[in-house]
Amino acid sequence: MIRIGVIGAGFIANKFCDAVNNSNLDGKLAAIASRSLDKAEKFKEKHNFEKAYGSYEELFKDKDIDLIYVATPHGLHYNHMMEILEYNKNILCEKPFTLNAKQAKEVFKKAKNKNVFIMEALWTRFLPTIREVKELTDDNIIGDIVKLEADFCFTPNKDDDHRLFQPKLGGGALLDVGIYPITFANIFMGRPKNFNSDVKMYKTGVDIAETIYYNYPDRQAILKSALNYELPLLAKITGTKGKIIIEGLHETESAKIYDLDNKLIREVNHPHEVNGFEYEIKEAIKCIKYNKLESDIMPHSETLNVLTQMDNIRESWNFFYPQEKN
Ligand SMILES: NC(=O)c1ccc[n+]([C@@H]2O[C@H](COP(=O)([O-])OP(=O)(O)OC[C@H]3O[C@@H](n4cnc5c(N)ncnc54)[C@H](OP(=O)(O)O)[C@@H]3O)[C@@H](O)[C@H]2O)c1
Repeated sequence: MIRIGVIGAGFIANKFCDAVNNSNLDGKLAAIASRSLDKAEKFKEKHNFEKAYGSYEELFKDKDIDLIYVATPHGLHYNHMMEILEYNKNILCEKPFTLNAKQAKEVFKKAKNKNVFIMEALWTRFLPTIREVKELTDDNIIGDIVKLEADFCFTPNKDDDHRLFQPKLGGGALLDVGIYPITFANIFMGRPKNFNSDVKMYKTGVDIAETIYYNYPDRQAILKSALNYELPLLAKITGTKGKIIIEGLHETESAKIYDLDNKLIREVNHPHEVNGFEYEIKEAIKCIKYNKLESDIMPHSETLNVLTQMDNIRESWNFFYPQEKN
């Protein structure tokens, strides 16, 4: 039984804990750490943890913890992971893994030296619908892919001091939601040859909306992400023999495949066992049990690949985080 510690008792930690508690997996919620002991105690009761800590460091030092799930804002992931690795703990870190590829390389290097498992918690890559659609496109079900469109645009309804809008915490649409359309392009079309983009910056100094055009020889991906308007969560993949509509984008449970006459030729349906987080958690537990240092589904190279692309996009906007200056 893998004993799991969680740092950051926020929005996504709740979802993670629901998945651990309601799925048939070989792991258990052992300790929650928050910057506030009172908050940690309440979170412990809510999700049935064994222990609650009022600082992250206490959890890092806990010898009974096998795996730490990092659920803090992404501007803090690098420092948190570098500290956790001092205690030789396995890590599952929320997306984006770090602010940039340089930070990620340092973290992966240290994890390798410490001989521990580490993985970016990009849950979409583990969803059975995505994995089946990928197999079907590899088998040519829609012929050659010529176009991919993917949108993740929403209005979070948060104040300007929320992590989403704060440069120091890694705010902005690209790193928070743009990572998903970019991941779709990489899964189904690979790395682009080059890109163009339009961006709208926000008064707090982060990107609030962008459209990114990934150009490949003879094909293109159009990727939209935003924190200031809503679009349906959807990906559309068009091929020479038909098209695929993936409903729900990053949290998908189903896809529909059509031929060139718009006739439905296949449906892919995989309702989540719990909320979709169970698949990445099971993978992390499996890897730890088999003494694997990285997952084949979410290898370190793919984390670096996507972060490098997002670095290049931000560089083209001349947008850097405070941690990246000087
Ligand atoms: N996979 C997904 O679908 C998904 C969805 C949403 C978010 N995420 C990722 O999960 C991470 C956390 O996002 P979230 O939406 O859960 O954020 P959130 O609700 O703001 O929670 C983040 C937690 O981090 C801790 N924290 C530590 N230092 C902080 C600081 N200076 N400012 C604010 N919080 C601080 C806080 O916990 P304590 O007060 O308890 O210490 C806070 O509750 C991000 O990297 C995000 O990209 C993933």
